[in-house]
This record gives sequence, C-alpha cells and structure tokens, in this order.
Amino acid sequence: MTDRLLRDGWIFEPGFEESWTQTPLRGTPIALPHTAVELPWNYGDETSYQRTFTYQRTIEMPPDLGDDRLIVHFEGAMANTHVWINGHLVTHHADGYTPFEPDITDYLTAGANLLTVRIDGTENPAIPPFGGRIDYLTYAGLYRDVWLNRRAPGWISNAKIEIDDPMGEAPIPRISVRLHEGEDAAAIGTITATVRAPDGAIVSTTTCTDLETVLPPIRDPQRWSLDAPNLYTLTLSLENGNAFETRFGIRQAAFEADGFYLNGERLQIVGLNRHQSFAHIGYALGPEAQARDADILKYELGLNLVRTSHYPQSVAFLDRCDEIGLLVFEEIPGWQHIGDDTFKAQSLKNVADMIRRDWNHPSIILWGVRINESPDDDVFYKQTNALARSLDPTRQTGGVRCIPDSTLLEDVYTMNDFVLGEEHLPGFLQSQQGRPRTPLRTREEVTGLTEPVPYLVTEYNGHMYPTKIFDGEERQEEHVRRHLEVLDAAFGDPAISGSIGWCMADYNTHADFGSGDRICYHGVMSMGRAPKFAAHVYASQGFDPREKPVLEPATHWSFGDRKVGGIFPLIILTNCDAVTFHYGDDSPLTFEPARKQFPNLPYPPVIITDEDLNPVDRIAWGDSWRDGVICGIVDGEVLIERRYVANPLPTVLEANIAPLIRNGDAYHDRLIRFTACDQVGNRLPYLMDQLSLHVSGGASINGPKTIPLIGGVASVYVRQMAGAEATVTAITLSGILPAATASLHAG
Ligand code: GAL
Repeated sequence: MTDRLLRDGWIFEPGFEESWTQTPLRGTPIALPHTAVELPWNYGDETSYQRTFTYQRTIEMPPDLGDDRLIVHFEGAMANTHVWINGHLVTHHADGYTPFEPDITDYLTAGANLLTVRIDGTENPAIPPFGGRIDYLTYAGLYRDVWLNRRAPGWISNAKIEIDDPMGEAPIPRISVRLHEGEDAAAIGTITATVRAPDGAIVSTTTCTDLETVLPPIRDPQRWSLDAPNLYTLTLSLENGNAFETRFGIRQAAFEADGFYLNGERLQIVGLNRHQSFAHIGYALGPEAQARDADILKYELGLNLVRTSHYPQSVAFLDRCDEIGLLVFEEIPGWQHIGDDTFKAQSLKNVADMIRRDWNHPSIILWGVRINESPDDDVFYKQTNALARSLDPTRQTGGVRCIPDSTLLEDVYTMNDFVLGEEHLPGFLQSQQGRPRTPLRTREEVTGLTEPVPYLVTEYNGHMYPTKIFDGEERQEEHVRRHLEVLDAAFGDPAISGSIGWCMADYNTHADFGSGDRICYHGVMSMGRAPKFAAHVYASQGFDPREKPVLEPATHWSFGDRKVGGIFPLIILTNCDAVTFHYGDDSPLTFEPARKQFPNLPYPPVIITDEDLNPVDRIAWGDSWRDGVICGIVDGEVLIERRYVANPLPTVLEANIAPLIRNGDAYHDRLIRFTACDQVGNRLPYLMDQLSLHVSGGASINGPKTIPLIGGVASVYVRQMAGAEATVTAITLSGILPAATASLHAG
C-alpha cells in the first residue's frame, strides 16, 4: 500500500478536445496546486476562467503491480471534472469542493499511461453554487493535491467512528466501515481495529469481520476541548496489508435553547466566516497555507469557531482546526439560489460527500444543509436534513438563512442578521420601520417562534459597512464600533449561542458585488491577512491578558486624517485593566474600559474622547503634533505599550514569516507579510509602492513577482520545497525603504 503525491509532471492547456485524451499535449509544464487563470489583485475579469481547461500527465504502471489497484485521489478540482486514462473515461465529479478517486487499473498498459483531466470553470447552472449570482469567485483549476494510491485488492475507502457516552468514564467507540465501491465484504477478511491515545499508547483494540463494530471502552478518556485538543487515532488493518487511518476526538457538542455547550459547559461562540481564496492564485493554496489560516483565526484573532462559508474547505484546514482546538461550522456549496431538480440532486450528493469526508473531525460541530441564504423550500430541505441525520446522527444540523420566520427544519436556527446599519436604508427595505440603531434582533423576532430554539447568528456587518485597510481613521473607527456592538449584544443575550462575523479577510468577487474593483472589503483583515483595526476587536476578547496582553489603539497617530483633526474619539482595543495615555510631555492620563457602553463584553475597549483631555491638552489645527505612548496595565503593572512618533518616516520593511506548521509535506506554501514601518515599527498605512520579489534557493513565488503594498502591507505565498532553504528579498520600486530579506529555513 503506497500513497504518492502527484505534484509535478503535469502539462496544462487551456481548452479541451476529446482527441487530447489519447494524445500527449505539448502545453505548459506546471505543478499542483494550480489555478487555471491568474487574476490581478483587483479589477480581475471573472469571465476569464469560465471555460474549459485540460491537465495531463503520464502514470507509469509499476511492473510488479500484479493484482493491486491504482487509484488517483483528487482532493478537489474546480469544477465539473472528467478524468480519462488512455482515452477511457474513468470518472466524472461535478462538485468543486469534495474529493473523488477513480480506479484506473483496468485501462493501464505496461509503461507510460496518459491521464487527462478536463475541468470546466463555467458557471454551470446544474451545479451548486451556480445558476444565480454569487458573491465570491470560484476560480478554476486542479487547485488541491492529487495522489496516486496503490492498494491490494480489498480495501477500505472510509470509516466513521462514533463515540457512545463521550462524557462518561469509559466512552465506547463504534465504527462503521465503508469499502471501496464494488468491493465485497467477504474479500476483506479480518479487520484489526486499534485505537491509540494522543501519546500513541493503544487503548482499545479488537478484530472483526463485520463492517459495523463496537470496540472495547476507552478508559481514562482525554477529551477534545479548545484548550486541550486531544486527538485519538483509529487504525483499521487488513490481512492483505491495506490499512485505513483516521483521527478523532472524544467530546460532546450541543446547541440548546440557552446556548452552545462543549463538554457540558456553556461556550459563547465568537467566530468569523472564511473564504478559502487569495489574491492572484484564487483557491490554489497548498495544505500549509490552509493550516496557516486556522492558526490566524485562533492565535491572531482569538476566535473559537470558523464557518467554512460557503462550501467544504480543504482537509488540511480542518485537520488543523482539530489540532489547535478551533470549532467549525461546515456547509454545502451554494449562494441564495436553488436550481432545478438536477441542481437539487447534486446538492443532496454534496451533503453526503461533505459528511462522509469529514465526519471524524472533532472540530466540526454543525452541518450546514441549506444553500446559504436561499428561500424556504421545505420539500428539498427536509431531504437535506434527513440525509445529514441518517449519515451522522451525532451532529446537529443548521441551515443559514437571511429571511425571518423561515421554516425551522434544522436543529439550530442559524441566521445572518444584518440589522445593524439598516437604519440607513430606505424605510421600505428596513425589517422594522424607524427602528433605532440595533446590533442584533432577538431570537423571537427572527424566528417568529414563541418556543425557545437553539439559535446562532451566522453573519453580520460585511456589506453593511465595507472598510478598506487603507481607509481613513474615521471609517475604521465606525467599522470597529460595529463589530464591538454586535459582539456585545451577542454576549448579552443568553438566547444567542454566539455570533460569526462577515468575515475573516477581504475577497475577490463578481462585478455585481464589492467596491467596483471586484473586491468585497468585508474582512477584518485585508486579502493579504493583514489586520484592520476591527481584527483587534476579536483579539482583545479572545485572550487572557496575563497570557497575551492586547493593546491596539484604532489610530494611525496623525493630526489630519479625521475631519477637523485629531485622533478622538480614540478606541483602544485591549484586554488590559486600564491604559495610560501620554501625549508629548503632558502628564499621563489613566483610562478604564468603557464598561457602561459595552457591559457584556469580556474585555470592553477603552474609549478616550476630546472631553477626557484637560482643556489645555486639547489639540488644534496649527499646533505642533507630538509623540505619544499608550500603556496597558494588568494587575497594576504595565504589560504592554505602544509608541507613536509625530513625524513617521519610512524606515524598515519588515518581513514576517510564520513558522512551519506541517513538517511532513513535500512542499509548503508559506505566507510572508512585508510591512512598511516607521522609526518605531508602526505600519505606514498610506505608503503606496510596489515590491519586486526575488527568490533564491528551493522556493518559488505563487503569483506575480511584483506586488503592491496595500495599506502598507504586501503579502505573498511562497512555495518552499521540503528540506530546502530559501530566501525571498523584497525591494520597493521607488527605493523608499531598504530591501527586506525573509529566510525560509528547512522544516
Ligand atoms: C451575505 C452572504 C455573504 C456575503 C455577505 C456580505 O448575505 O451570505 O456571502 O455576501 O452577505 O455581507
């Protein structure tokens, strides 16, 4: 049994002709993951990838293959993929987000065999999410890894593990095994099932010939939780040498009418929605980059949940969520539109494919079985719910909607509540005429139900207040306020299990949406994963100040960026007990968090207004602007401080490379963020320049080699080969900053 990554050796050719399936193509040599059409940062034409493309490579038939089978495992391809081996069609998979694995053995001949893959980037209305409009891009390409797997005849393609009595002293693992299509159970023989604890010790084992088996109980269970994400491993070994392995966790997750409970304890969900895309290269980011986003959500933003809007995301991303303790709400592909019967049949298949791929991830606590924000369709959604429940009775279902009073067929009423900002809409578009500014509606108003039901807010803000990382301070201040207000409202209403904001990072979109440049600036981070001030709203709630003090004043510290001038009201996002504010040589002033304004937040921000300053300290147009220092105090001690200079000058280009997460991979797509900084290390938000990137060693740039500084930050993913050292040097085209070099060490 071997698994081999088919990373390089591919030929890429735009278009497709049937005859190509039998003829070696001369196109462009490429490596996977690959995007069929690279787009510019913004103003990209979404129709450019809406056509067919061909990928081709040869597969050597091993001379000793004997009775063994060769299977090509595609982790995902966008979209509507057909696969041929030596001109024989071996599979068709319509969905762009789930795996498929054709068995190519029957058509192999000795020596080289031609594997041809046709993908179709058109928005085919038979396939979700297509047929209506969609606020995101789907790109096109073989954008996830592809593997060549060799198996002795008789193998397990999947197994589900369910835990009875997860909170008891001796939880009982129950497994149900799925054989590869066409295999019969008799050919499998005896299965040896072994469960290993996180430290590798065997804690339960049995042998069986049945596909449904109960294992001996696991004593001294180490539960999976956000702080201790303990992972067990189940191995199923067959006499013929084949094996199947999966990780799982022992935990209990339940949405109740009074909130969400993890292992019996109420947990307020604080999350963001995530798209799996990036500038230029679309979806074509490898496992390391996917895992990095999970780390950003948990360790930079302090969140406890992510919604994989609006489709199943990569296994690498979910694996990382399991490993670090980040909850996941995963949903089927779609956006507002329900198509015809073929579309619905595909959508049902998507429910099954998603659940079968992901049922063992302890991080996943909810299946989204509605097309995001689609209208009610009780017949259809009864089917998606029934299917989800039959495949996985251990998890609850949700289905994201934006219409109030919709039929509740799911276990959890999951609602996108964009009421904040509605007061600016014309009356006929408001959910209630003349309503004052309101962060969230009540569960009763949204559901129209008098009985209490589990309730979760799955989106807010987003298009109600798009904000760019290079927007002026006043706009960013309002952006920050809106995120604070919604979080405070969610924390304050025990009927709300939590809230998932729109969204993690800006994303490229269709012309019908966004700021005209095909970007929705809805993220709390830029597309390059650089934090806007609103990102710190989340970070300031997510950490104990003694472990990670957060102090992020929502200012660029300049006199003239706001109307009339100054930096007030100044919102300081912090988890500290108090802050001190030093302006020039004036005596420092101390401020407490704004508990009255934000009574429900674990860590309300500090808000300083003009009135808080002594009249002599008030700053006016024509005064000299001075340096400042803001300190965060915890238990009477200064734990963190931020310094500001009155005369910022471009001084350093900082290179930030996150450490490697996944050591065993053949290649690593590593995120590097280059930040233009002043004398004291503050970002220069309005420095517009281009960086030219130069690589030496075992790496290459994903996307273009000249990239813009956006809000003073330029982000790039660099593909580093396993074991190779590399450096990436960034040079500003204007020469305004010294060059920066990022050194990528081998894992
Ligand atoms: C929602 C939708 C999201 C995104 C968001 C913008 O209606 O579900 O995909 O478009 O609006 O705020």
